[in-house]
Amino acid sequence: MSITAPPKDWFQAPSGHERVWLGMAFAWCIVLFIMMPLWHFKGKQNSTGESYATTPAAFSERVDRFVAANQVGTHNGTPIVEAPPGGDAYMLGRMWSWYPFLKLRVGETYRLHLSSMDLQHGFSLQPMNMNFQVVPGYDHVLTITPTQAGEYTVVCNEFCGIGHHGMIGKIFVE
Ligand code: CUA
Repeated sequence: MSITAPPKDWFQAPSGHERVWLGMAFAWCIVLFIMMPLWHFKGKQNSTGESYATTPAAFSERVDRFVAANQVGTHNGTPIVEAPPGGDAYMLGRMWSWYPFLKLRVGETYRLHLSSMDLQHGFSLQPMNMNFQVVPGYDHVLTITPTQAGEYTVVCNEFCGIGHHGMIGKIFVE
């Protein structure tokens, strides 16, 4: 027979090197366990988890209104939209683009709404390397305050099909 049950007394408490390795792994688990809440409060880069239910159609309508009211230019054919300081900014992900591009000001705080029109995308802000999931049906709100002027790139870091590598957005901070 190819499969046989182990003997009844198969279990032996770890000892020697096995005990040391398990101890190290356990200690590292505890470090990571403590780091997660610590980084949430100290690192100031985590999402607060604020999100609302929406639909792609409803979110797209809000984005269109945002673009119509606040567009200040275009970049490679995509609208650049200046969000009102202290107000709402929108960016939607879809196969395979981010829409629209944003213009923000240093020191102002914005509520950035993210959602997807189709499937799961990943909002990765470069070069800061801040990463958030963008999921259809959820309006994920990030409270952000740009601290440095520059041109930031949003890349998709969730594989979403043939055009995934070209799914690149822009945020211009002045
Ligand atoms: Cu969107 Cu990958």
